[in-house]
Amino acid sequence: MNTFAWKIVSAALAAGMLVSCGSGSQPKAIAADAEVEAKVESVLKGMTLKEKAGQMVQLSIMVLEDDTHEAIDPAKLDKIIGEYKVGSILNVMHDAAHSWEHTANMVRQIQEKSMEVLGIPCIYGLDMIHGASYLIEGSLFPQEINLAATFNREYARMMGEAMAYETRAAQVPWVFSPVMDLGRDPRWPRHWESYGEDPYLQAEMARTETVAIQGEDPNHIDLEHAAVSVKHFMGYGVPHTGKDRTPAYIAENDLREKYFRPFKECFQAGALTAMINSASINGIPTHANRTLLTGWVKEQLGWDGMMVTDWADIDNLYTRDHVAADKREALVLGINAGIDMIMDPYDPECVNDIVALVEAGEIPMSRIDDAVRRVLRLKVRLGLFDNPTWQHEYPEFAGERFARESYDAAVESEVLLKNEEGILPLKGTERILVCGPNANTLRALNGGWSYTWQGSADAFVPQYNTILEALEQRFPGKVTWVPGVLYNEMYGAWQNDIEVSIPQAVNVARSADVIICCVGENSYCETVGNMDDLNLSANQKNLVKALAATGKPVILVLNEGRPRLIGDIEPLVKAVVDVILPSNYGGDALAALLAGDENFSGKLPFTYSKHINSLHTYDYKVSEHRSTMGGSYNYDAIMDVQWPFGFGLSYTQFAYSELQLLSPADFKAGDMLKVSVKVTNTGDRAGKEAVLVYSSDLVASLIPDVKRLRAFEKIELQPGESKTVNFEIPAHELAFVGADGKWRLEKGEFRLSCGGLGVMLNCTETKVWNTPNI
Ligand code: BGC
Repeated sequence: MNTFAWKIVSAALAAGMLVSCGSGSQPKAIAADAEVEAKVESVLKGMTLKEKAGQMVQLSIMVLEDDTHEAIDPAKLDKIIGEYKVGSILNVMHDAAHSWEHTANMVRQIQEKSMEVLGIPCIYGLDMIHGASYLIEGSLFPQEINLAATFNREYARMMGEAMAYETRAAQVPWVFSPVMDLGRDPRWPRHWESYGEDPYLQAEMARTETVAIQGEDPNHIDLEHAAVSVKHFMGYGVPHTGKDRTPAYIAENDLREKYFRPFKECFQAGALTAMINSASINGIPTHANRTLLTGWVKEQLGWDGMMVTDWADIDNLYTRDHVAADKREALVLGINAGIDMIMDPYDPECVNDIVALVEAGEIPMSRIDDAVRRVLRLKVRLGLFDNPTWQHEYPEFAGERFARESYDAAVESEVLLKNEEGILPLKGTERILVCGPNANTLRALNGGWSYTWQGSADAFVPQYNTILEALEQRFPGKVTWVPGVLYNEMYGAWQNDIEVSIPQAVNVARSADVIICCVGENSYCETVGNMDDLNLSANQKNLVKALAATGKPVILVLNEGRPRLIGDIEPLVKAVVDVILPSNYGGDALAALLAGDENFSGKLPFTYSKHINSLHTYDYKVSEHRSTMGGSYNYDAIMDVQWPFGFGLSYTQFAYSELQLLSPADFKAGDMLKVSVKVTNTGDRAGKEAVLVYSSDLVASLIPDVKRLRAFEKIELQPGESKTVNFEIPAHELAFVGADGKWRLEKGEFRLSCGGLGVMLNCTETKVWNTPNI
């Protein structure tokens, strides 16, 4: 770096311009890189107000499409980039996947124009959610919720690497992933986009994915990595009504302790951008929540990344939430709260609105400069100034490696929930009747964000096997298919199913040895997945009941984005497998698992509730769900779930023994707790086991959670083999956030548990932290 550049950086640092982090003593989430900062300053100083406003606006590619909707209209490009000076584009033409070449060509045209008229590269972003969702040839992995069910961080790494690599191959440097909203309400239609209900599991997987997507150095992202947008910051997953984008009410201590955790970990691991929660928390639309956006993230974490709105959410501040009277008021609220880029997504006039608001003194120039620095910093870190487009070979694009990893992830993510009388694995000699609306569809196997927003795998990648096709291949000549119930194909009615042939299915069942009934949900995304009843549909339940009434054994396969209630039909079936949303190799994985070629090792990353009026998470308060109140009163509020968080069976058995504390039982906040456990495969098949360690705080000044996941590892054991698994848990992990918003670790007894065993510990000293993050 030359002396001139250094001068700029030190001057900027002295003026507190580079990062708006209230107290200068806070460590920065991402270490500042002097050359990056110098480049940012040198670009910024030559920009007009309109150019700055343009950098803060992101529009959908739809505003650039020509009449064919397949190509860019040069006149529109001139207008949007040349006149309006817009700095970012998102989305795909036609809401549909394209080839990587089509995508790359489109980006090249945008970049050429941007460099020609602005000298600043545009940044293109796409919703790559479980792999390269919007590339026809791209590799898809099981959805995040499935990767969580593997309890194996390696799959989050593999998916992140594949996603970034293939997205870059299409000249796109930015993905709107990973999703880290805690899936703590199964009614929410985006439950499956997240890594489940637990903050630790979510944080571990999301941080792993973030680093895999971006690489190790967030200041220098190479041509095989991309920038993430962690989303949706935050509390989006627990809408009070269960419906998408509706208000949430979250106690501030829970917000800090649970909902913030995955975001904080990702910011500190270098996440370069964040997308904001469309809805509201405790009456404040998140896009207008200065305390959370600027306070918690930019100031308290010293995070110098960029915050982008979700789709049209500045508009929502006045059209939906009524906290602003019009667009301009909404812009003032959002930008002053900390929004750096507005996903408008159709109206470039937003640029002129920002200019007018600055000229009227409604938004300070310092806030604009801060926002634009953050946008430019992202572009510099991605190397876009040097390489607005790039020549690089991607030999592994859509190759064997990613396909194998996706298959392996599917195998480890499908969860065996019931296996009465050892009906599984199948012997291979049985005559099999396959039924149900989920048996012959790739669309349902993949879920949303698969080639289109709502998911359209059948239309794009018919070469993969549905469950039916995979079973036919694995059990040739043994399979008969009668759907019984199918999803409605009519546009907009996809979630409805229709009874088509239940009597026929029952007839055929009489001459079958076993019935594999595949039920659940069709694919959906966001608001389209809203619903009024978490129960599995009546048609599908009727199908299962009719089949079970034949007396033939039913294996129930659940293929669904959220745990649809099946309390009344579960007792009728011999086995249950929840494949969740395992993607293109999910059918093959299931056939191999049912045949016993592979062994189950998935565990539920969410609580599978049983009753519609009792939706649970595993970390409920000790005072909830008890049958008695110390003998004086019967609450009749027993914890009664279908299957608990962390539940999942295998074809082998694992015995846990020798849970040992390797560090002293008396501990203080700064100590490291060390614990080990021996796990033995006592069955006759090789298998993998997710070993989960929980803690319980026995007495605390706020009602303690009954237990909390603190560590996990996935191990593999041959028959008869034992392994000792060691865990290290920093003692401060056992702290909680009190009613005053402060982290506290209180003296008294704690219990660590694993595999049904427990050890006691004793915290000898209460510690209260005066910092917001520990
Ligand atoms: C979704 C986001 C997504 C954005 C851009 C919104 O509707 O909530 O998750 O990234 O659209 O497509």
